[in-house]
Amino acid sequence: MAMSSAISLCFVFLFALHSSLLLLTVAGTSDSQEFVVELDHSNFTHFVTNLDFLIVSFYSPGCGRCKKLAPEYEKAAYILSKHNSHLVLAKVNISKQANVGLAGSDGRISIKIVRDGGKNVQEYKGPYDADGIVKYVKRQYGPASIEINTLEDAQIFLSDNKIAIVGIFPHFSGEEFENYTILAKNLRPTEEFFHTSDAKLLPQGESSVAGPLMRVFKPFDELFVDTQDFDVNALEKFVEESIVPTVTIMDGDQINQRLVDNFMYNSNSKVMLFINFSSEVAASLKYKYHELAELYKGDNLSFLMADIGVSSHAIKQYGIKDDQIPFVILLSDGTKYLKSNVEPDELSPWLKKYKFAFISFLLEFYAPSHKVCKELASVFEDLAISYQRDPDVIIAKFDIFANDILHDFEIWKLPTVYFKSADGNISQYIGYATKEDFREFIEKNRSKPADEQLDVKDEL
Ligand SMILES: *[C@@H]1O[C@H](CO)[C@@H](O)[C@H](O)[C@H]1NC(C)=O
Ligand SMILES: *[C@@H]1O[C@H](CO)[C@@H](O)[C@H](O)[C@H]1NC(C)=O
Ligand SMILES: *[C@@H]1O[C@H](CO)[C@@H](O)[C@H](O)[C@H]1NC(C)=O
Ligand SMILES: *[C@@H]1O[C@H](CO)[C@@H](O)[C@H](O)[C@H]1NC(C)=O
Ligand SMILES: *[C@@H]1O[C@H](CO)[C@@H](O)[C@H](O)[C@H]1NC(C)=O
Ligand SMILES: *[C@@H]1O[C@H](CO)[C@@H](O)[C@H](O)[C@H]1NC(C)=O
Ligand SMILES: *[C@@H]1O[C@H](CO)[C@@H](O)[C@H](O)[C@H]1NC(C)=O
Repeated sequence: MAMSSAISLCFVFLFALHSSLLLLTVAGTSDSQEFVVELDHSNFTHFVTNLDFLIVSFYSPGCGRCKKLAPEYEKAAYILSKHNSHLVLAKVNISKQANVGLAGSDGRISIKIVRDGGKNVQEYKGPYDADGIVKYVKRQYGPASIEINTLEDAQIFLSDNKIAIVGIFPHFSGEEFENYTILAKNLRPTEEFFHTSDAKLLPQGESSVAGPLMRVFKPFDELFVDTQDFDVNALEKFVEESIVPTVTIMDGDQINQRLVDNFMYNSNSKVMLFINFSSEVAASLKYKYHELAELYKGDNLSFLMADIGVSSHAIKQYGIKDDQIPFVILLSDGTKYLKSNVEPDELSPWLKKYKFAFISFLLEFYAPSHKVCKELASVFEDLAISYQRDPDVIIAKFDIFANDILHDFEIWKLPTVYFKSADGNISQYIGYATKEDFREFIEKNRSKPADEQLDVKDEL
């Protein structure tokens, strides 16, 4: 077996196979032919530097996800090898210590898209079934952006149920076009990019524009959005922001599922409403929830609404009983807050309470060189450690020379310690500067959330 994969490797190396027939012939010679190329620390670099394009699965034989992937990956490698000999799938066993470093600085189980002899590495963001892998890898190998020339192209590429990004340019050259191409290369693992010189071919939006203009089509909210700011970073930010719906819908629809994944993986705090989409109260809850989401959009908060019919797994995880539905959950900094039997008018006050006011602060304003401040430093350190596991209390200190002082506080002498309770009262701490005294003060003054606080697993 080692022999036969060495043979197919030689073909890739020496002949850079332009004819897929040749490879097929090799494949025909052995039933146990493996189309996925095994690499390790002894030959990885040499192999990679000779290729423009390569997919590498960094796997561990023990991981369940890897076991499930393996036969699909092998099947995809076979199909791809028939299609185009440049489409090579490889794997590296990172259970072997010497191979870990090959998977990048974090050495994680992952699939990577490796281009330009290893100079450009991107995370694989495609599907895990053979057909899905094939389609995705072909697309990754082709041009970063595809030209739309005809109405038919537009119909094929811009079906109304997916996100697609189209650059409109009078000519396919110049700085704007170059920046767009850089964007397409950067984001191609997750988004599909197109370009055209005829906006009339596009299904929506102003059709008389000549560009340069970038139009993001999306199957939700405004359906498309335009930008003319062609700075690469601005383009990237624009795409990231436009592809997050005001409210992500989890209803079992495949197209929405990708948006649910985006929702789960972004770093924002998350609000999730679980309702029965066919119940009577659904309409007014949806309406109020949308209002709320509009209000807090861009505030590092993401909103999701799930139909209980397709989220029973999540509901079980949160330990919710049928008679507690509908319910809403806020996940913020590792803490979870839940309100069951939530009514439309309760959504807004509930969120406000937790998002902006559930934390008590003890703030010390100090100057690093000040003698008393120095003495207090270790007391504050200890205090902070004792509240480390309490998500509702924050012990913070502000160097008055390094920070703009918050308007709510007046600093007359150093050090000054202020307390802000969860319901917003601010008062100056006056008392002894020992850890015990501070603790007693905090415990007396903090106001605890009245709702249930959950401690459950993060995933849905
Ligand atoms: C790389 O080295 C490993 C271990 O010697 C071997 O199993 C594998 O077939 C080699 N791969 C290639 C492409 O030469
Ligand atoms: C992967 O590496 C581990 C550790 O060296 C080894 O035990 C295992 O047999 C290897 N698996 C495969 C499929 O090569
Ligand atoms: C292209 O992007 C760069 C930054 O990456 C920016 O400096 C330049 O102004 C952009 N060009 C145009 C025409 O926006
Ligand atoms: C949702 O509500 C509808 C209409 O009230 C009801 O028929 C259905 O059983 C409910 N679904 C679930 C999963 O409770
Ligand atoms: C959102 O989060 C980022 C990083 O965590 C932070 O820098 C930014 O100030 C936050 N924005 C808002 C509006 O809270
Ligand atoms: C905050 O102030 C209000 C009004 O002065 C008071 O009723 C409430 O008890 C205070 N909260 C705490 C935690 O002391
Ligand atoms: C905290 O409690 C003390 C008494 O223990 C009281 O004097 C002070 O006003 C309270 N502070 C706040 C913010 O409620």
